[in-house]
Amino acid sequence: MTEERLTHVSAAFSRRFSGEPAFIARAPGRVNLIGEHTDYNDGFVMPCALSFDVLMAVRSRPDETVVLHSANFPGDASFPLDDIEKSGIKWAQYIKGVAWAMQEAGYPLRGADVALEGDVPVGSGLSSSAALEVAACLSLAHNSGHVIPGPEMAQICKRAENEFIGVPSGIMDQFISAVGQDGHALFLDCRDLSFEHIPFDPDAAGLAMVVADTSKHRGLTEGVYAKRVEECEEAVRLLKQFIPGMKNLRDVTFDEFQIHQPHLPDVIRCRARHVVSENARVLGAREALKAGVYEGLGALMNASHDSLVADYECAGPHLEAMVTASRSIPGVLGSRMTGAGFGGCTVTLLRKESLAQFMAEVPGLYQEAISVLPKESDLVPHLYAVSASGGARVL
Ligand code: GLA
Repeated sequence: MTEERLTHVSAAFSRRFSGEPAFIARAPGRVNLIGEHTDYNDGFVMPCALSFDVLMAVRSRPDETVVLHSANFPGDASFPLDDIEKSGIKWAQYIKGVAWAMQEAGYPLRGADVALEGDVPVGSGLSSSAALEVAACLSLAHNSGHVIPGPEMAQICKRAENEFIGVPSGIMDQFISAVGQDGHALFLDCRDLSFEHIPFDPDAAGLAMVVADTSKHRGLTEGVYAKRVEECEEAVRLLKQFIPGMKNLRDVTFDEFQIHQPHLPDVIRCRARHVVSENARVLGAREALKAGVYEGLGALMNASHDSLVADYECAGPHLEAMVTASRSIPGVLGSRMTGAGFGGCTVTLLRKESLAQFMAEVPGLYQEAISVLPKESDLVPHLYAVSASGGARVL
């Protein structure tokens, strides 16, 4: 977040509402290093927050209305706090959903004028919607005199996403946006929400991290994500007959899985194998990161991707092309898809001295590889060198 963007959102506020905002709140997008499709299985994840974020310039109003003005998207929106309806402009739904979930959680809200702007690429799997939700939660809380701890904000925003927006997502994106720390990755146990900030400073270790957007977009609402959630539920239902006491895939060790997997239908077996093995990889990655063994982290990132391709079938040709292109550059320690998949971004850890070659060559390699695809064969990728940034705060 730059001074320029702060000035921009303040100016947007003044143009729309006149006068100055009382405060500006920010919440970031995220990249997940490892632990994909584990959060809704009570498992482990290890994301970090990015410097891409949503900014909200806010001032309270005397009435019970929230008025929204976006500097990015056309159309303003407003809604009464005592009668929140699921209709109207798409981006405003996330804010309405959060206001609804906050009141459900027992936080009375005051009316607000809000101008917002974001630079999280939308539809790229970097959690632009979680950034919007968490920024809204923090803004409405601060405007109403509430101090809500980050983990609770994450739960409120998840409820908005699940019950108001209707996407059965896990808690990872909202959690990292709410509690992320500069220069740290977050290890999160999605069962009890215990977490640990682990120092993660690739630059200091002579490394770089690149997020590569395939420009192939796919919304979470499109159904495949929900199908994967159901497939995991089915795996739990079947495995429970053989593993007494298990509640979720999180409770299954890889050895137990190996013993009981013949009882599962092929597709369900693959989905479960990904989740069970991915949880073990996240635990390994946490140890590797703590020990500063980045080669170990890179190898686990590669294994995670390969499992998402082979067992979870959620990568698709664009993400696969980007990972193949990335791994062909010398000095790459690990490269994988990040987020829900089916399009979106990859994350790559590489030696700093390879960064220039990576940025110069990967786009062309990717474009060459996708040129043979039957659809979306001419997408222009966007590459960003990124680092772990801080979570939501009032500036
Ligand atoms: C999306 C969801 C998260 C998580 C990831 C996959 O980002 O919002 O909750 O399930 O997909 O790991």
